[in-house]
Amino acid sequence: MTLTATDVAHADLLSPAAVADPYPMLAAMREHDPVHWSERFRSWFVTRFDDVDAALRDARFSSDRITPYRQAKLEGPDTDPGLRAAFGVLEEWMVFKDPPDHTRLRRLLSRSFTPRAVGRIRPRIEELVDELLDTALGRGGDRIDVIGELAYPLTASVIAEMLGVPRSDQQHFKEWSDQITGLVFGGMADSGRHDRGSRGMAELTGYLTDLVAQRGREPADDLLSGLIAARDEHDALTHDEVIATGVLLLFAGHETTTNLIGCGVRAMLRHPDQAALFAADPDLTGSAVEEMLRFDGPAKTVARVMAEDVELRGRLLRRGQRVFLSPSSANRDPEVFADPDRFDITRQQGRQLGFGIGMHYCLGAPLARLETGIAVRRILERLPGPALVEEPSWAPVLLSRGMESFPVRIAAS
Ligand code: HEM
Repeated sequence: MTLTATDVAHADLLSPAAVADPYPMLAAMREHDPVHWSERFRSWFVTRFDDVDAALRDARFSSDRITPYRQAKLEGPDTDPGLRAAFGVLEEWMVFKDPPDHTRLRRLLSRSFTPRAVGRIRPRIEELVDELLDTALGRGGDRIDVIGELAYPLTASVIAEMLGVPRSDQQHFKEWSDQITGLVFGGMADSGRHDRGSRGMAELTGYLTDLVAQRGREPADDLLSGLIAARDEHDALTHDEVIATGVLLLFAGHETTTNLIGCGVRAMLRHPDQAALFAADPDLTGSAVEEMLRFDGPAKTVARVMAEDVELRGRLLRRGQRVFLSPSSANRDPEVFADPDRFDITRQQGRQLGFGIGMHYCLGAPLARLETGIAVRRILERLPGPALVEEPSWAPVLLSRGMESFPVRIAAS
């Protein structure tokens, strides 16, 4: 489907058609209005590779989009204290901070997420994937929900174990994190998201506060104990930052990877020739994961707030205005990628923006790549005769290409 300049004037990335398939609309925006003002979202949308790439590295596009929101919307006497507290936690997330706080918080964690550090948990990831597949296949039936039964529990367990959350406590996380998703990724159509988001945030921070107290008494070999030591021994971060960083890692550590695994399995099932290549050659895992991320990655847009006026392609982006930079669109830009709508796991693609770029480049990229490569391979190997029978249920959010569920039919065993 080709959209025209008139369609772009009314572009709505939350329309049901665009939520199910944003790429025709993003292509039209790239072509006809690459720096697009949306009246509906009162925001700019930037869609060409070069512009998204440059803006993500440009300090005038500030990452601190929470403080202005709090000041504008949450300072009044009628504001629900729970909501104010929830945004207070978000305000401590490194992803929403500019230097120098961003630099300090990122430095504390970067060593834990190098390819070498995460490579050590490969056997554990393989074990978890197989356990989940055993359970899903063992229950019988002719459908498996790739999100609910495989991708979500896998990625949630991996990051929870890295942090040091006991397995017996992990069952609450899905609910809390679904609730927090409404605060972080937004969903304009849903007015209850703030209530649910603050409730989920209060429960998760309450839980982590108890766990931090316990790890403070009995340190273990996990990320949370490392953060507590940095707080107590080096004064490198505050107590609130320990809790907020725990929430950030639990949230960022699985929400997006779940979607990459879901979209990756879907892309393979829609392109049997590529699935056959992938199955035949384990050495293609690396380039296949990069292509899954480029072709249908989770970062539909990344938000920024203008720290000063900037002119871009003849448009004036004013200080204080919100901007959505779109990695999903940049990654399909024909100026950079030949035949960009083709899924080709052997593509020698060079640089893409699925994990962002610049100082906020995804901290968890090595972990996400490892989990996705293992999970997509094992799912395709072990599901008998997997077939697409219905569309996934897509989350109606602007920032992420998120699946709520993704049923795949399997042959009777
Ligand atoms: C496929 C999976 C993932 C995708 C597509 C993804 C995408 C992104 C993107 C686009 C950013 C940049 C945001 C910005 O510039 O504002 C980011 C940052 C971040 N990601 Fe990921 N992510 C994924 C998995 C993970 C995992 C597994 C973790 C686990 C720790 C993680 C932790 C983070 C953190 C902490 C940041 C903030 C980094 C900073 O501000 O310096 N992500 N991610």
